[in-house]
Amino acid sequence: MRICTRFLCLFAFISTAWLSPSAFSSGFPTDFAVDPSVVNLTLEPKVVVNSGKLEWVPFSRDLTPWVSLSYADKRPAAKPRQVKLVEPLQGDPVRGRALAMARDKGYCIVCHQLPGEQWAGTVGALLLSFKKHKYPDELVFQQIFDSRVFNPISVMPPYGTFGILNEQEIRDLVAYLQSLD
Ligand code: HEC
Repeated sequence: MRICTRFLCLFAFISTAWLSPSAFSSGFPTDFAVDPSVVNLTLEPKVVVNSGKLEWVPFSRDLTPWVSLSYADKRPAAKPRQVKLVEPLQGDPVRGRALAMARDKGYCIVCHQLPGEQWAGTVGALLLSFKKHKYPDELVFQQIFDSRVFNPISVMPPYGTFGILNEQEIRDLVAYLQSLD
């Protein structure tokens, strides 16, 4: 697997010097986009078109249980977890694609390029034509479950270990990537 140390994580709460102080919850690092008065605690930035400004709106999922990349976040992270994929894969590539695009699920396109997404991120490797690598399913499964097994300083979220995605969802993502010609 390719190693990349560049830094960016949209799952982490983005450093937000411009957030109004009232949006911060006590008990969380001060650069967290958290508002205790919204249902899922978590805020996300929304571009206010042609204003040069961002508006902070409630996000559809509570992201606070997971350790972020904020230097102020001193909570201990779950240790990297090595997993064994029990074959057959039985993943659904259509569901996998939806998970890769969904902002409150995989949101892989925030870092990776995938077919059909114009504004993909460039932090992670290109995942276009992924099939050509001929990676074994279990390697791809591990990368998504917990990439820190391959790269201890990976910025890719450990989706399985953190419980962001369940095992079937990771199987679906593997099936999707392995289907990309
Ligand atoms: C915050 C950015 C980020 C997100 C989000 C992210 N990745 Fe990654 N991904 C990386 C980086 C960086 C690498 C390079 C290796 C490493 O550091 O682990 C990588 C590597 C990979 C690789 C190995 C590619 C290769 O050819 O070596 C796969 C497969 C992968 N990611 C799949 C996914 C999937 C599927 C998702 C969504 C469920 C996802 N990634 C979400 C940053 C991200």
